[in-house]
Amino acid sequence: MSQDQDLTLRIRRYDPSTGRSWLQEYRVRAGGILRFTDLLRKINTEQDPTLAWNSSCEHGQCGSCAVRVNGKPLLACELLVENAVKEFGTKEFLIEPITVGPVVRDLVVDLEVAYRRVEGMKPFIIRPRENPYGEGEYRIDPKEMDPYVDATRCINCFCCATACISGPRSFVGPNAIMSCVVRLLDPREDAKAERFKLLHGPNGVAHCHTSKACSHVCPKEIDVAHFVRLAKSLRLKEKA
Ligand code: SF4
Ligand code: SF4
Ligand code: FES
Repeated sequence: MSQDQDLTLRIRRYDPSTGRSWLQEYRVRAGGILRFTDLLRKINTEQDPTLAWNSSCEHGQCGSCAVRVNGKPLLACELLVENAVKEFGTKEFLIEPITVGPVVRDLVVDLEVAYRRVEGMKPFIIRPRENPYGEGEYRIDPKEMDPYVDATRCINCFCCATACISGPRSFVGPNAIMSCVVRLLDPREDAKAERFKLLHGPNGVAHCHTSKACSHVCPKEIDVAHFVRLAKSLRLKEKA
């Protein structure tokens, strides 16, 4: 049975009406199998209803609860108290918003700009290739999907983009690049030259420093850096 833990949570607050930002400390007693979203809810109901944070699915599928805990971007709904104590070796946690967009309030971030970066990489089929099966559905051989099927598990939580040392100013970000590479490998699309242009545009893959931080933090355990690397190597092949 999991033990109750006495935790200290230092949470980055932001009040948009005054522009004030500060760290607020909360002491929380919690069972080991509670998740960090449960801790934030506990604070709301027992101590401070004004603390703002995001969640939706509470099941690791929507990405809306992404925050930084002791510097590491992660999904708050997936982090159990007992695992956090083990992983970080402490019962004191600094909780901050992710860094890919402006903070709306406390831990809530406006993701519109971040989503626009993904949209700009056209994660949809730009121009469909003629369907070899005629009118029916376009079936993809599982072998053809193998090279990119992992990437399709991305939930756009922006944890990788938050961890990326290249930052969002000059670089579209690892998940945006990956969403473009997926369609580059997708046999249904007939717009490869346009894809290469997107990937190697001014905010494209050249900004990646191959730190692999994106792969390290991805809650879906996608090797994001592999796909970013792939975008670079496919370029080399195209040049050769
Ligand atoms: S690649 Fe992983 S970390 Fe990045 S947005 Fe997708 S799910 Fe989140
Ligand atoms: S490997 Fe590239 S894309 Fe991934 S975190 Fe490092 S710099 Fe960013
Ligand atoms: S609330 Fe949906 S991923 Fe955490």
